[in-house]
Parts: sequence; C-alpha cells; structure tokens
Amino acid sequence: MEQKRSSFSGKIGFVLAAAGSAVGLGNIWRFPYLAAKYGGGIFLLVYIILTVTFGFALMVAEIAIGRKTGLSAIGAYKKLDKRFSFLGYLTALVPMIILPYYCVIGGWVTKYLAVYVTGQGMQAVQDTFFQNFISQPVEPIVWLCIYIGVTALIVFFGVESGVEKASKFMMPVLVILSICVAVYSVTRPGAWEGVKYYLIPDFSRFSPMTVLVAMGQMFYSLSLAMGIMVTYGSYMKKDCDLEQSVTQIELFDTGIAFVAGLMVVPAVFAFSGGDQSALNAGAGLMFVTLPKVFADAGTLGLIAGGVFFLMVLFAALTSSVSLMETVVSIFCDKFHWSRKKTCLLVLIGCLLIALPSSLGHGIWSNIQILGKNFLDFFDFISNSVLMPIVALITCIFVGFVIKPQAIEEEVLLSSKFRRRGLFRVVIKYIAPICIVLILISSVLDAMHIITI
Ligand code: PHE
Repeated sequence: MEQKRSSFSGKIGFVLAAAGSAVGLGNIWRFPYLAAKYGGGIFLLVYIILTVTFGFALMVAEIAIGRKTGLSAIGAYKKLDKRFSFLGYLTALVPMIILPYYCVIGGWVTKYLAVYVTGQGMQAVQDTFFQNFISQPVEPIVWLCIYIGVTALIVFFGVESGVEKASKFMMPVLVILSICVAVYSVTRPGAWEGVKYYLIPDFSRFSPMTVLVAMGQMFYSLSLAMGIMVTYGSYMKKDCDLEQSVTQIELFDTGIAFVAGLMVVPAVFAFSGGDQSALNAGAGLMFVTLPKVFADAGTLGLIAGGVFFLMVLFAALTSSVSLMETVVSIFCDKFHWSRKKTCLLVLIGCLLIALPSSLGHGIWSNIQILGKNFLDFFDFISNSVLMPIVALITCIFVGFVIKPQAIEEEVLLSSKFRRRGLFRVVIKYIAPICIVLILISSVLDAMHIITI
C-alpha cells in the first residue's frame, strides 16, 4: 500500500494520470452537444468562468485532502472529521451511477470504430443510421458487453503498464487529430455561422439552466465531486506543485473540450443546411455530425474517421477504467473481497444497471422518468443532482469545519498559492450559495414546477 501511495514519479506523471481520467467522453461527446443545445458562446463563457473559479477551488481542495490524509474518499473524510464519513459514501455513489451508462456510450463508440474499420463509414452518413442502431434491442447490448468486458479486463490485470504507456502515446495523437478535424470542419462552406454561434456569447440565450448544465458538465469533465481527485491526491508527492498541477489539468481538459466543440458545432451548421433544430439533436450529435465531416473529406476522411473513433475509444477507456477501479476498490476495502471476485461482481452489476440505459433508446423508450429516458435520467441524477450536493457539502466541510487554512497549509508545502484569496472566497461563500440556488432551480425544473 505504502508503495502504491507514492506511485506518481513526479508532477508530469500526476498531471498525465489526472488528465487521463478527466479527458474522456465528457470532452468529446458530451461537451459539444451541450454547448450546441445551451446557447453556444454563452455556454462556453459560463463554462470557462466556472472552471477557473469553482473548478479550481474544488480540485485544489480535493487533491489537498487526498494528499494530506493519504487516503481515498471514504477514509479521507472520516479521518478529517468522523461526523463527515457519510460524505465519503455519498461521493462513492457517484461513480457507481456514472459507470454503467458511460459503458453504454463506450459501446456505441466501439460500434462506430468497427463500422469505419470494416470500410462502411459511408453508411454512417445517413441521418437515420445512428437512431436505427441505438434503438435496436440486441446489437447495442452486444457492443456494451464488449466494452464493459475490455474495461473489466484492464482493471483486473492492473492499469500500470498497458494503459499508462498507451495513453502517453495516444493522448498526443488525439490532440493533433482533433485539431486537424476541427480545422477541416471550420473551413467547410457554411460553417462560419457555426463558429460565430460557438464563440460569440449571445446573452439573450442565458438562463439558469445554462449555469446548471455548465456546472454539471464541469464536475463531470474534471472528474470532480466523485472522489477520484481525492484518491489521486493521495498518490501525490508532497513536493509536487499542487496549484500548478491543477492549472495544467484544467488547461488540458478544457482545451480538448473546446476543440471538440469546434469539430462538431460548425459542422452542424455546414451539414444541416442552416436547419438550426439540428443543434438540439443532443446526445447523438457526435455520432451523427462527425461521420458527415469524414465522408465529405473522401477516402482520407474515412481513414481519419477510423483513427478518430479509435482515439475516442481510448480516451473513454482510460476514463471508464478509472471509474471501475474506484468502484472495485471501494467494495474490496469495504467487504474484504478478493479483487477477482469483486471485478466479476462489479462487471455483472454494471451490466444489469446498464441494460435500461441501452434499451431506453428503443423498446423501452416509452418509459420515461421525469420526462427523460434512462440514460439521460442517470446522467441528470449524477451530474445535476448528486455531484452538486457532494460539491456543496465538500465546500461547507472545507470552508467551515476543517477551515480553508487546513487546505492552504497543504498547498503551501509545495506552491506559492497565488490564487489563495480566490480559493478562500469561492469555497466559503460563492460556491455554496450558487450551488444551492442552482440545485433548487434544477429540482423544481425537473418536477415541472417551473420551467427554466
Ligand atoms: N471526466 C471523464 C470524462 O470527461 C468522465 C469521468 C468521470 C471519468 C468520472 C472518471 C471519473 O469523460
């Protein structure tokens, strides 16, 4: 255990590992469709403001808590204050909800990779292709099983050698390829309107929902409010510059999300012939719009499509592995089960919970919870309800129970902590107040008491 605790060799190792967890489907699949749906430029602006304030303060707090206690979430909060052990459990619930539906989408990505590898990329251009695929009862579940199986195998055999080495190579390729696709899509005829929509904030599109969704997306994308950063912090060396590491993780994560938006949003304008309703297409946007961009670029585009979905698959796998690893280690610690047994049980449990999320797009699409299908419902519960609640309690815990000084001391061990003032104000006052307001409005909205 002791050996594992110091396993990040230095700052680069830490930043890369944390960024590997942070960069995933959230950046490439989720961010562009939310940006498209919730107002383009105004969403981007709100998102960036939230990242450098809320995101910064929370990530600093979570990593410092991990490094200070040397424990992952359940143990860490308990060690700092016994009355707050419940926070550890609540935090642990979040990855359990996210993992199953994350794997459903991972399965879709695997299918698309197979489509391109087998030279059928042209078929994916048809508008109905994606809808036809996800509404089938069996095929998406087969891909889901393959995706979960691979994730579980990696977790079972250990993450160190394979995934880490491969991600050092794949992540830079992903960055370069994304930039190339973004440049191509921005230069398509008609795409310029989309670039403007994505980059220029239109304040008339602002609503509380923009902030709520942007905040949920920020937690999700930075892997915050679910204990992952606490665990990673516990592996961080005391002399590693904490503040600078957080800045770099945020830059990396937000950079990739930004470029992904540039790949998708202008392409929607270019390929939908000015039909703005395509912006509301939602979760399927990446699967519907990008194939058109690839097909437009001819044979080279189809090859690029194959490489692209391989990279997305990889980014997704590194994230789902970190999610499953967290869940497995929680059960291992709690019930003292063997790793083998736990992996198998988590695999089966995850598959069962994932089934409704998959079937909810086809034969079970008539079952709606709060007006959402299963996948969207799980996504809503984890990102818009649970994560803000965990974040709120964490803020109160840091701001008023252990006090910001406790975190500051830890950060000051290794950095000058230039944004100490910002950290203190955000964690004590601004974040809790905003989160409460936003939570209330989101719950009322979901119950259709108000419409925002
Ligand atoms: N941050 C990841 C993404 O953007 C998702 C994730 C959440 C990964 C939680 C691990 C833990 O896709």
